[in-house]
Amino acid sequence: MTRVLGIETSCDETAAAVVDDGTAIRSSVVSSQVDLHARYGGVVPELASRAHVELIGSVVARALADAGTDLAGLDAIAAVHGPGLAGALIVGVSAAKALALVAGKPYVGVHHHEAHLYAARLEDPTLCPPLVTLVVSGGHTMIVGVGTDGAYRPVGATVDDAAGEAFDKVARLLDLGYPGGPEIERVARDGDPAAILFPRPMLHDGADFSFSGLKTAVVHHRRDHPEVPVADVAASFQAAVVEVCTVKLLRAAAATGADTVVLAGGVAANAALREAVTAGAAAAGLRAVLPARGLCTDNAAMVAAAGAFRLAADGPTALDDGVAPGLRLPDRSAGW
Ligand code: KG4
Ligand code: ZN
Repeated sequence: MTRVLGIETSCDETAAAVVDDGTAIRSSVVSSQVDLHARYGGVVPELASRAHVELIGSVVARALADAGTDLAGLDAIAAVHGPGLAGALIVGVSAAKALALVAGKPYVGVHHHEAHLYAARLEDPTLCPPLVTLVVSGGHTMIVGVGTDGAYRPVGATVDDAAGEAFDKVARLLDLGYPGGPEIERVARDGDPAAILFPRPMLHDGADFSFSGLKTAVVHHRRDHPEVPVADVAASFQAAVVEVCTVKLLRAAAATGADTVVLAGGVAANAALREAVTAGAAAAGLRAVLPARGLCTDNAAMVAAAGAFRLAADGPTALDDGVAPGLRLPDRSAGW
């Protein structure tokens, strides 16, 4: 049995979790800083770093207590080392290294998006390749394929804004709260998704995404038709994002021969996207694995899960290995 403590501080969530064998969650604590940043309409990096410093000790202590373990009971300590906000990453990585040193256990640096990929294994430990995962978060939008050889390969990515970023920007435009995704989803429930036919950028163009034109289309529509109810605008915008994401995910499955489609990242918590992917996968004869909403948004259980597999595949990360705010997802074996 491999028991890993995972730590996540790449953005505005301070999180720690204990996971056994990369699949069984023993504890998962997420302390959100949403209230702290809400009044600024976005994450303020300096405030995030300070809040992580204040919270990290108690969040880790609670994760260990909830799991009924202590440092001696761990086999490794994993933390996200990139990509993310530099000052925020440093807090989690420094904490993980300090705990690793004190406990005499290995430290494992984890890529944030690789961690998102592993959330689905926590949902379904039997999940196996070939599969394609749509990672849709505030910072990134990409499709990653995992082949039968266990190697993962980026299939497509956004050429401009991330899907979550588009949700957040459109929410701000519509005077909704922060973070924008859940607000748009809430307001859209009372709207007509067919009220406005917003553009579906790059719909017929391979596996890459573009969301900045869609955002601009909403800006222009708002300016030209201020009388249209916000609910209709939100529902129509959401429908455009959902259609593009679903079509591209299913197309990537067909192109790579995957028999399973997976969702990951904060936007994967969106009910309209979950319904569309579930229905589309069923119609195409594919299996769909949709992690619980709490595993889609940033959490540390996915970090511990990825850390366990990364440790088995590559061994520990050197303690002089720093944070990498712009880290790209490498093209290599995921250890599936
Ligand atoms: O993965 P995540 O928690 O953090 C990053 O790694 O970025 O994703 C956060 C993003 C935000 O842009 C937020 O607006 C979006 O996920 N999000 C949603 C929903 N819940 C969170 N977008 C659409 N619908 C939701 N229900
Ligand atoms: Zn994330």
